[in-house]
Amino acid sequence: MFSKSNPVKRLNLVLIVSICIGEALVMFALPSFGDLSNGVTVVLDITLLTLITIPLVNWTVTIPMKKYIHDLEFAKHKILVRENQMLAALNSLAAAKDNETGSHIIRTQQYVELLAKRLKSMGHHADTLSDDHIEKLVKVAPLHDLGKVGIPDHILKKPGQLTEEERDLIYGHSMIGENILLAAQSEDVEIDLIAIAMKVAGSHHEKWDGSGYPRKLQGDTIPIEARIMTVADVFDALVSDRPYKKAWTIEEAYIEIVSKSGTSFDPIVIEAFIAERQNFEEIVKRH
Ligand SMILES: [Fe+2]
Ligand SMILES: [Fe+2]
Repeated sequence: MFSKSNPVKRLNLVLIVSICIGEALVMFALPSFGDLSNGVTVVLDITLLTLITIPLVNWTVTIPMKKYIHDLEFAKHKILVRENQMLAALNSLAAAKDNETGSHIIRTQQYVELLAKRLKSMGHHADTLSDDHIEKLVKVAPLHDLGKVGIPDHILKKPGQLTEEERDLIYGHSMIGENILLAAQSEDVEIDLIAIAMKVAGSHHEKWDGSGYPRKLQGDTIPIEARIMTVADVFDALVSDRPYKKAWTIEEAYIEIVSKSGTSFDPIVIEAFIAERQNFEEIVKRH
């Protein structure tokens, strides 16, 4: 009889029905009280209506709505659990192939968080960088190199110089990662977490001046999530030991990154990086 999905319609209907019943009862009952003053009639009228309306609203609207909200919260919780399970599976897939250490992952997540929060507090991309969005961006940051699962080990771990063909193959990891994530995306309802992960995986090697890959995106056309990721990832690569290079000092890495503002990196993100220098240094020392 009542529409479960439309509580306003249901409430309206219940109120109309209870007013009709109440008024009918009042008209039926009043004559048996004899002559009453207007004031007493109004009080009796309101009392009767209240006595009828409250249990009726409770029975037909409040109780079903409470159950409905409880079911909704449970469904939301289940979705969150599934999302986290999927994320954990993708993360271990990425970690299985990537030769990055666990501490690289923790550090880059922390840099991403610092940059995103600083940008937000500076009033940039405030519409995009909600607390929830930043939390999701931090969660998916370790997936930026997920596409390396599609690159043969003998190329990925080649100690010497890469041929042009091998370099092109490695460059393919951005699109491979994006496509893996696209397969995990829902066709009906876009999963936020996956949508952000796709931006990070697909565009973390794009450069502000358009000289990056895979799409040679330029400036604002590069998703902000990827512009943040690239600064975090490059900074950490510079200050870390790699098989092919020694770790740079924090000062050297800082100068290098700032010098590439407007060419490799978004100047606004570099502003945030400069403002967060102290915190970046602390993260390097802590991990
Ligand atoms: Fe990468
Ligand atoms: Fe990385």
